[in-house]
Amino acid sequence: MENFIKELPKAELHLHIEGTFEPELLFKIAQRNKIAIPFKTVEELRKAYNFDCLQDFLNIYYQGANVLQTEQDFYDLTYAYFEKCKMQNIKHTEIMFDPQTHTERGISFKTVINGISRACEDAKANFGISSFLIMSYLRHMTEEEAFDTLKQSLAFKDKIKAVGLDSSEKGNPPSKFKNVYKASIKEGYIPLAHAGEEGDADYIWEAIDILKIKRIDHGNNALQDPKLVQEIIKRDIALTVCPLSNKALQVVPDLKNHPLKKMMELGLKPTINSDDPAYFGGQINQNYIEIQKALNLTKRDLYALASNSFQYSLLDENEKIKQLQNLTGYFQTH
Ligand code: ADE
Ligand code: ZN
Repeated sequence: MENFIKELPKAELHLHIEGTFEPELLFKIAQRNKIAIPFKTVEELRKAYNFDCLQDFLNIYYQGANVLQTEQDFYDLTYAYFEKCKMQNIKHTEIMFDPQTHTERGISFKTVINGISRACEDAKANFGISSFLIMSYLRHMTEEEAFDTLKQSLAFKDKIKAVGLDSSEKGNPPSKFKNVYKASIKEGYIPLAHAGEEGDADYIWEAIDILKIKRIDHGNNALQDPKLVQEIIKRDIALTVCPLSNKALQVVPDLKNHPLKKMMELGLKPTINSDDPAYFGGQINQNYIEIQKALNLTKRDLYALASNSFQYSLLDENEKIKQLQNLTGYFQTH
């Protein structure tokens, strides 16, 4: 089963580039930029990756991102993720980045996006992996600040496919970003958002009705509301589920209680993703492996999950068909 998962062609649809920052690279870049960090060794830093909730994680995640300064830093971070993609047999990835985490510290939008997108181009040339970028607004900040980010992004519109919404969910409902989402859609960005990770089903209602999102990041709490489940199915909106993240952030402390199988049985379209793999104990394949074991998923279930990852990606129809044919060929011969 593990080999089947490792070689299964797949797409990753929920991944924060800042969340791929492995302690070894973090130390290297901190030294290169002569930035002091409050940990003496890689092991000490890794030990701090023990979280009670989303906010507990975010505090450490933003601290780690602070060492990123130059275009080369963003390039190195992103290229290191693509090297992992190659080993995970990821064929396509949709990468979130948080510009405000960096622009707030005086790093220019241009530095961030040029570093990340140059790595995306090199990964396409060197590994054949395609990618899109999702510019995520930080929901603990104001809508006005999100508008400022939208404005800064316009000079780099050709490099950005979609907008997202992440960071502290509770107390920051989707409706707070109604106007900036409307403006983002008008600029041609596809609307996506985290909803129902720690927030309740009413946040998911807001995300689909008010922000008009095309995909729900996490969405676990949709199962609180049968009417919402039916609406998500009717609108054919997928969920980007992140099992090891849910476990690490105590959203679902024991994967045996994870709602993934229930989602599939109800007719929802979940996908498997790693969210912030450097912090949550595993890349995408480890997420597939652990959830397969916990829920006793079959090869056919895993095939359906990988199919969803291509079907609900932002790829154009021709590219989706190509990827799905390749996946089906793999499934039929295994
Ligand atoms: N930023 C990075 N990972 C996140 C998550 N799982 N939820 C919300 N914001 C995030
Ligand atoms: Zn996330």
